[in-house]
Amino acid sequence: MWSENLAYALAQVIHNFGAAAVLGGAVFVLWPAFRLEYSRSFAWLILLAWGAQIGSGALFGAISLYYYGETPDLSAVALTALAVKVLAATTGFLLTALYLMRGSGWDRADVKRTFQVLVALGVTALTAAAFLRWFS
Ligand code: HEM
Repeated sequence: MWSENLAYALAQVIHNFGAAAVLGGAVFVLWPAFRLEYSRSFAWLILLAWGAQIGSGALFGAISLYYYGETPDLSAVALTALAVKVLAATTGFLLTALYLMRGSGWDRADVKRTFQVLVALGVTALTAAAFLRWFS
C-alpha cells in the first residue's frame, strides 16, 4: 500500500509540474505582451512538459496494471475526458515539435497563433483533468 501510494504520488509530481509548465510556458510567451525572443527557448520547455504529461499519464496506467493487473474501470464521462487529454497532449507535443523544426521561417503572427493554440490545448487538458478526477 505504502509503495503503491508512493508510486502514484511520484507520477503525480511529474504530472503536476508538467501541467504547470505546459500552460505557464505558453502564457509567459504571450502575456502581458507577445515575446518572440523567448518563444524558442520556451518551446523546448513546453515540448518537454507535453512529453512529461504523456509519459506520466501512461505511468498512472502502468502503476494500476502492476498493482491490480488491470486499469481502472472508467465511466463514459471519465473515458471521454481521458481521450480529450490524450488528444490535447499529442497535438500539443506535435505542434511544439513542428514549431521547433520549422518555426524559424514563420512570420510573427503565425508564431503568436501557435502559442495561442498551445494555451488553448493546455486549458482544454486541465479542464478535462477535473472531469477525469471526479467522474472516475
Ligand atoms: C497522455 C495524456 C494524459 C494522460 C494519459 C493522463 C492521465 C491522468 C490520470 C490517470 C490522472 C489521475 C486521475 C485521477 O486522479 O483519478 C491524471 C490526473 C491529472 N492530470 Fe492528466 N493525463 C494526461 C495529460 C494531462 C495534461 C496534458 C494535463 C494538463 C495540461 C493533465 C493534468 C492533470 C491534472 C491537473 C491531474 C490531477 C487531477 C486531480 O487530481 O484533481 N493531464 N491524468
